[in-house]
Parts: sequence; structure tokens; C-alpha cells
Amino acid sequence: MDLIAELDDVLARAPDAVAGAGSLEELDRVESSLIGRNSGVAEVRRAMGTLSPEQRPVIGARLKEVTTSIEGLLSARRLELEIEDEAKRLEQDRIDVTLETYSIPTGSIHLLQQTIDEIVDIFVALGYQVADGPEAELGWYNFDALNTPPTHPSRLESDTLYLDYANADDEVLLRTQTSPVQVRWMESHEPPVYVVVPGKVYRQETTDATHLPVFHQVEGLAVADSITFADLKGTLTHFSKEFFGPGTTVRFRPHFFPFTEPSAELDVSCFNCDGGEPGCRVCGGAGWLEMLGCGMVDPNVLEAVGYDAGTLSGFAFGMGVERMAMVRNGISDIRHFVENDLRFLRQFK
Ligand code: DAH
Repeated sequence: MDLIAELDDVLARAPDAVAGAGSLEELDRVESSLIGRNSGVAEVRRAMGTLSPEQRPVIGARLKEVTTSIEGLLSARRLELEIEDEAKRLEQDRIDVTLETYSIPTGSIHLLQQTIDEIVDIFVALGYQVADGPEAELGWYNFDALNTPPTHPSRLESDTLYLDYANADDEVLLRTQTSPVQVRWMESHEPPVYVVVPGKVYRQETTDATHLPVFHQVEGLAVADSITFADLKGTLTHFSKEFFGPGTTVRFRPHFFPFTEPSAELDVSCFNCDGGEPGCRVCGGAGWLEMLGCGMVDPNVLEAVGYDAGTLSGFAFGMGVERMAMVRNGISDIRHFVENDLRFLRQFK
């Protein structure tokens, strides 16, 4: 067969064969059939040695042309197939970032703890230290050292939760107030004393919208040389404005606590109506909100801890955390704090 015709025949078939290769493996097979060792082109190359000197350059030149153009076709198709291959692999390996994963719900700090933190921070900014004490307390610390005689009504079994603790020399009870930590702190620290005590307290109480048998208080105590009632008023007025807002005014009403003399209750002006709205939802129209108990530390308490009541004086105060949080956030039922209803808790995230 005419070698030129043979080469032209291969060249004519090449474009379709190359284009028909659907994968890189197929293209390799097409390549060997077109220009590989057993191809017509290879046969022509082998026949070169038998050609006459006239024919050889002519056939040689054509052989080169045909090989070059087939190689061109092959490498163009190879590039196409590689690109397709790459795209296919990317498609297969694709991660669907829109796929929904599960998320771990995050909690938040309970409103009561938030309120405690806020109250404590106001006093820490004034230089107070933070203390705590045991919830199971001795009668001495909860009552006697606080100038509360055995006949005091709060010592009745109907008011206080007593623990049956074998061989104790003293009554053991769940503390009814954070005030015993005043005594514990003074026993173990030299004056001056500036301390706040957040903590749980317990009372024999039937649960209702305003009472729980377990609730929280923040106690405060300041004892130094010549502390006066003016210091008490200044400190608690500052606290009230920080906690309820700068427009808050306060009033001190005479009261009685066994461990302070004189004693007072502190009321703050209603931040909702400022005293101007009959039937206000926060103060009920009174214009004042009862906030906390306070007073000048009774000298008997200073003496009970071995402090010199002749040269030292001080003031103390105690507030209910639930009440502070309820008043400020318009919460009408104290039971919300312990029911763990997320609809309630989430409002204070
Ligand atoms: N311990 C009192 C109570 O639970 C509150 C209180 C009143 C604490 C006056 C004080 C204070 O430190 O001075 O009702």
C-alpha cells in the first residue's frame, strides 16, 4: 500500500478517534492505535529503511507532519479530559456546608446569681471583701452572739429548721439569715471590717407567691473607729442609686432587729411611678418599696466577738436577693426562680 495514503488515512481517522475518547484511559488506547508500536504510523517508520533515497525525505517529512498533528490532537484532548476529571472529583468530594448539624445549647447565669453578682460588685467597688459561711449553723452564731435571746420568737421550732445532730453542745439549724457570718468574720479578723456575705438562708415557710423555704440574702458589715449612722445612710443611698438608678431616693423607717441599735428599714422610691401613680404595678401606689433591714451594730454583738465596743462602732444591713430581683424586673411570683421554666430563665439571658 502507498505509504503516503496510509499516513493520510491515519490522519483522517485521528480527529474522530481522539474526540471519541471519553476518559484518559481510552485516550491512551487511541494513542497507541494511532501512533503506538503496532500502529500504521509505526509500520511506515519501520519501512523507512527500505525506501529509495528519493522517497525517503518525502515520506519522512509527511511522517513527521502526521505524527506532530496527531500528537497535537492527543494533547489537546488530554487537557480537556484532565479538566473534566478534576471537575468530577471536586463534585464528588464536595462538602455540603448547608447540611444542618446539631448545636449544643448554651445556658446562662441564673437571674438570682446575676443579681447577687451585681449587688456584691457595688460593694466590692467601695472596698468591701466578700465572705461566706456554713448553711448548717450553730445557735450561737445564728442567734445568741447576735443578741437574740432564747425566748425570741424566731427561735421557735415553727419558724426555724433545726437539724438533729448527735452530741452537739449547741443547737444546729439551717441558718435563718446571713447575719451569723458577721460574727464568724469578726471572730477571725481584726478591725476595720468591710465585708459582704451573699448566701442561702432557710425558714420554716409555706411556699406562696412571696415566700420560699430557701432563699438568698446579701449581708453587709462595716466596723471601724467612729463609724456613724451617717456612714450607713451614705453607703446605702449610694447602693440604692447604683442598683435602682441615679434618680432613686431613699427613706429610713425605724424598726427593730436584735443585733442593731438603732435599727431601720430602708425604702427606695418607686422607680416605676416615682410615687405619682395610684395603683402602680410595682409599688401599688405607695410610692415606696421596702428594700432591706439595717442599723448600727449593737455593742453586745461587738462584745460577743471580743471587739472593744468602747472604741469601735459599725453598721450592718441585710437584703433579700429574690425581693431585689422581683422588684427590679417586675416578677410577681417568687416561685419562678426555682421552677426552672426556660421561658422564664431565657428572659434574663
Ligand atoms: N438578718 C435580718 C433578716 O433576715 C436582716 C438584717 C437586718 C440584717 C438588719 C442586718 C441588719 O445585718 O443590720 O431579716
